[in-house]
Amino acid sequence: MSGQVCVSDFEEEARKILPKAVYDYYRSGADEQHTLVNNVAAFNRWHLIPRVLRDVSTVDLSVSVLGQKLNMPLCVAATAMQRMAHPEGEMATARACHAVGTGMMLSSWATSTIEEVTSAMTSSPGGRGVLWLQLYIYKDRELTLSLVRRAEAAGYKAIFVTVDTPYLGKRCDDMRNHFKLPPHLSMSNFSTAALAFSEGNYGSDSGLAVYVAKAIDPTLCWDDINWLKKKTNLPVIVKGILNGMDAVQAVNYGVDGILVSNHGARQLDGVPATLDVLEEVVKAVQGRCDVYLDGGVRRGTDVLKALALGAKAVFIGRPVLWGLACQGEQGVTKLLELLKEELRLAMALSGCRSLSEVSRSLVRRAEFTSRI
Ligand code: FNR
Repeated sequence: MSGQVCVSDFEEEARKILPKAVYDYYRSGADEQHTLVNNVAAFNRWHLIPRVLRDVSTVDLSVSVLGQKLNMPLCVAATAMQRMAHPEGEMATARACHAVGTGMMLSSWATSTIEEVTSAMTSSPGGRGVLWLQLYIYKDRELTLSLVRRAEAAGYKAIFVTVDTPYLGKRCDDMRNHFKLPPHLSMSNFSTAALAFSEGNYGSDSGLAVYVAKAIDPTLCWDDINWLKKKTNLPVIVKGILNGMDAVQAVNYGVDGILVSNHGARQLDGVPATLDVLEEVVKAVQGRCDVYLDGGVRRGTDVLKALALGAKAVFIGRPVLWGLACQGEQGVTKLLELLKEELRLAMALSGCRSLSEVSRSLVRRAEFTSRI
């Protein structure tokens, strides 16, 4: 592995390593990919307003997320099928999270089992990693619940239920590539070939879109959040909220957290960048549950801006896949460490010694600052 110094260096190298259809699946967004560009660009629409002369010789990045202490407020979002990036896939990611001391959200569509990922995370001594399960609600509720039960038994600490995917967004590259899993891999948490997306003829479309239409429940509504909350004692977080109205609804249904997310711009193209709706959600929630954000986070300064706008922690999706592709566990560890150091530096240069000192006054909309 050569000397990557930022996330885009990892992406550049991963693009050279990965088969085209895999790189396209990981990278792409929906439709014209306007939101994909916007998720990243939004961070430049906010300026940091640093304070000086504050003795920043030590900076504490530690945070408590859903009752668990982490070494930094930057966690790993669920991304499906990680063994396409590296043979150790999700297990490598789990070990890296443990080493760095952060949380990993495992996709329902992982290519490693819930239990394998727990063993990977707990096998190395000394770390401080936490696992959460990302849940797709299947038409088959017993199957859905079996994932929850397995996560409970394996020591996962929360369920992130994805609410923005009644159907898969239209991803043109995947359609052109007739995307499906390579034959040696499957969605390991399912025992039948049909649900493991491992065999079968998906025709000329994106295989994954056909799979979702068959298996995932498009009738999902708020009562299903109630149902899930009744079935588990784990904290339930809704993943995929983009406005204050749904945020209030989520609070009314008693969720433990909200993840402001547009699914990495892979579902509905044309929705705003997540950073641009974060404050609306935070204001609507009024402190009644934690608010998290993912989408387009590529720099330590991005993390800091999201925290200043009210996120308790942020998540990254694609950058982890680039780290994995470059060098498995070591690649992800290096990537997470690199972002952690970027965040530490951004906080120090802003005059923040701990996350409690990161406040709304640290950021201003760029148009507004430039008029001053
Ligand atoms: C995802 N995402 C996702 N979300 C989810 O709830 N379940 C899943 O299985 C997946 N799978 C997945 C695969 C790939 C390749 C990507 C890029 C994304 C969405 C993910 O959890 C997260 O919301 C975004 O990736 C965050 O945006 P960035 O960091 O990728 O810009």
